[in-house]
Amino acid sequence: MNTFILGVHNLLRWLIIILLVINIIRHFAAIQKPFATIDKKLGLWLMIAAHTQLLIGLFEWFAGAYGLKSFINNGASEVMQNGTERFFAVEHTVSMIIAIALITIARGIFRKQIPDGKRHRRCILLYIVALVIIIAMVPWPGMEGIGRSLMPKF
Ligand code: HEM
Ligand code: HEM
Repeated sequence: MNTFILGVHNLLRWLIIILLVINIIRHFAAIQKPFATIDKKLGLWLMIAAHTQLLIGLFEWFAGAYGLKSFINNGASEVMQNGTERFFAVEHTVSMIIAIALITIARGIFRKQIPDGKRHRRCILLYIVALVIIIAMVPWPGMEGIGRSLMPKF
């Protein structure tokens, strides 16, 4: 069960990265155009993927081997001194929550009464920062003690 959930978390990474890239390209392409239904739909899909990832991530943090259990079993100072434990329990989690918050803020811009060009630009900025954070904080293979596979092991 937990392997399955972690596998979904692994796969959703790709969906979120692809949707972020598509959203960024779309807002760039439409920068001179009115904010359209497709912009809202693409943003909504990204939002659903990101929030599902957040929900699974929180579940992993509270129920999985890394996160709350690291703190309970080893204490905070041990966790902070161990690169692997610190990565999942603190660095990955905090940065990803920030990235997902940026995606959520971008969605809020859809409803703001500001010129469409400004909306596109704000979304581009928020999505690029979110993408950079996500790319930086995914446990890519080869990262010592942290790296995980590119595809899930169901
Ligand atoms: C830990 C779990 C979750 C938290 C803390 C959370 C939090 C939030 C917050 C703060 C908003 C912004 C509300 C606003 O600006 O009006 C939001 C909107 C949204 N959430 Fe979540 N969410 C979670 C899980 C989910 C899940 C599992 C899904 C979908 C499968 C989801 C789908 C959405 C959608 C689609 C919106 C945007 C609604 C709209 O703008 O029309 N969320 N959520
Ligand atoms: C865009 C957001 C996120 C991406 C792209 C992402 C990506 C990943 C990936 C690729 C893994 C390795 C999966 C594997 O071993 O197959 C992972 C593990 C993990 N993630 Fe995330 N994650 C995100 C958000 C979150 C959030 C918001 C949390 C916590 C609230 C979280 C908590 C964790 C934990 C605790 C693990 C380790 C689970 C374990 O091995 O027991 N992640 N994440």
